[in-house]
Amino acid sequence: MLTSEVDPLALAIEAISTHGYAIIDNFLPSDQVERLAEIINKKWLKGQMVSAKTGKIGLNHHDIRSDYIAWLETRDPSPAVQAYFRQMEMLRLLLNTQLFMNVQELETHVAVYPVGGRYQKHLDQFSHGASDNIQHRQLSAVLYLNQHWQTHHGGALRLHLNDHETLDVLPQAGRIVLFLSAKFWHEVLPASRERLSLTGWFRTRHHLPL
Ligand code: OGA
Ligand code: MN
Repeated sequence: MLTSEVDPLALAIEAISTHGYAIIDNFLPSDQVERLAEIINKKWLKGQMVSAKTGKIGLNHHDIRSDYIAWLETRDPSPAVQAYFRQMEMLRLLLNTQLFMNVQELETHVAVYPVGGRYQKHLDQFSHGASDNIQHRQLSAVLYLNQHWQTHHGGALRLHLNDHETLDVLPQAGRIVLFLSAKFWHEVLPASRERLSLTGWFRTRHHLPL
């Protein structure tokens, strides 16, 4: 079968079950990826995005990450946003039926890294001193929205596969990177261009129903 005929969700499930991470291109049709980039650019230009914090109080985090974020609402009526949430919901169902992950919630935000911005090496899920939300993150999903990204632009996501090996992934439009939140340390390297992304975390529920 040609790669273009393979369902990106099926590829994602296969790779996550084998490696714990997946790098999948064409997660959404290119016109929708372009629309998502426009929506984020609009928020950015209107000053609707805020400097991101790591969630801990009383520490200075300016050196850790330099991105600006805005939450993305599931009720946002834009067709491109709705297409994103539909695709993520199909992925969620497959994670549960095929990989028994039992993920129930999706937390999402859009992010802009200004030129030179970075995010130092971190884990998306850590239990000590973390908020409830962060403790329950199971799978991280970063969708990139940058057309014609070249290696010399920098800005790779550096995934630490183990103590010795890293993998650099360019933030190419339409590419999604999925990885187990508690397992993979990762960082965002500085770029010579503005860098747009849409990040989601699939979470288990905070409280089990009675
Ligand atoms: C994050 C993160 C990676 C990226 O937001 O936690 O690690 O490539 N993002 O934008
Ligand atoms: Mn992260």
